[in-house]
Amino acid sequence: MKTIEINGNQGNSIILIGESLQNLKTYVPVEKAVIITDTNVSAFYRKDFPPYEIIEIGTGEQIKTLDTVREIYGRLLHLEADRSSFIIGIGGGIVCDIAGFVASTFMRGIRFGFVSTTLLSQVDASVGGKNGVNFKGYKNIMGMINQPEIVICDMSLLKTLPEREVLCGLAEIVKHGAIADAGLFSYLEENHQEALNLEADLIERLVYDSVVIKTALVNKDEREDGERKKLNFGHTFGHAIEKVTGIQHGEAVSAGMVVAARLSEKRGNISPEDTNRLEALLRKLKLPTELSLNKVEILDALRKDKKRKGDFVDFVLLQGIGNAVLEEIPLRELEAVIMGQN
Ligand SMILES: NC(=O)c1ccc[n+]([C@@H]2O[C@H](COP(=O)([O-])OP(=O)(O)OC[C@H]3O[C@@H](n4cnc5c(N)ncnc54)[C@H](O)[C@@H]3O)[C@@H](O)[C@H]2O)c1
Ligand SMILES: [Zn+2]
Repeated sequence: MKTIEINGNQGNSIILIGESLQNLKTYVPVEKAVIITDTNVSAFYRKDFPPYEIIEIGTGEQIKTLDTVREIYGRLLHLEADRSSFIIGIGGGIVCDIAGFVASTFMRGIRFGFVSTTLLSQVDASVGGKNGVNFKGYKNIMGMINQPEIVICDMSLLKTLPEREVLCGLAEIVKHGAIADAGLFSYLEENHQEALNLEADLIERLVYDSVVIKTALVNKDEREDGERKKLNFGHTFGHAIEKVTGIQHGEAVSAGMVVAARLSEKRGNISPEDTNRLEALLRKLKLPTELSLNKVEILDALRKDKKRKGDFVDFVLLQGIGNAVLEEIPLRELEAVIMGQN
């Protein structure tokens, strides 16, 4: 097991990589804890939960709303939870985002932690303190930054994860390698099959390296005023693709990273070989690199991007594999890349 620490404005977060759900109780600092989980995770793992009260929620992005939050507040009051209670989210990004939101607002904020049960959540969602819910079709528009005290990443839980969910986690790992760690990138190139097979030691290294990268950026810039934005590589196009096609986030980010790499190449930041390497790796990991897209809809979604600043977008370009730069790019240049795609 390895540990990594995040130093947040409101408190620190300890991420335990390779720890087991079965040891959760030893990390819970109080007597009275309440678990928030979803129906799928509960069906597989409830038998391994410590004997705390459990609040079960449904699954899917559509339940990440204030209505679900309101229901949980009601259940917490009914359970007589108070300021000394501790909330533990056991699940993927949806459970963690909701549990963090609830814990940060219930009685003006109580202590909380996560057991991260999806690859995406282990390498991304449960790290960095962003909590939030969707509202009127806007993703993660209501929320706060507040670090969980502990995060357990138990790789053995990934065995029951549907393959499509595994691939979404792998897309974010490729992103981490591409923006900050050429070694991680080549390691994945050499071990793509083992990664797809979820080989335990290998996944532990991939999660660890990813958390190191994300933590370093969060420690420098918790509120995403600068450096942390690099984690959005592939996401400007990715979000537009996700919105228009409705495919999974990781799949959209995969295709979005390829478009961002092409733009980096066009601007002379990387070589065509680098773009090819990125595409080849994503393909080996069974992730999409090209999609037949309705260009007009994609352009419309890009214009509606909440991170757009007038005619410019803060955009993450690659500067070689393992290095990223932030630049303000005119929207019309992004549009030109989309229009140039077959
Ligand atoms: N806070 C952040 O910084 C951050 C970063 C990235 C993504 N997110 C958010 O994370 C969410 C996506 O998270 P996700 O991909 O983990 O999705 P998810 O939480 O919906 O989990 C995916 C599916 O897998 C099931 N599942 C979870 N663990 C399982 C297991 N061990 N075995 C079998 N099934 C299991 C879930 O019930 C669900 O059906 C999005 O809402 C996104 O906005 C947040
Ligand atoms: Zn993402």
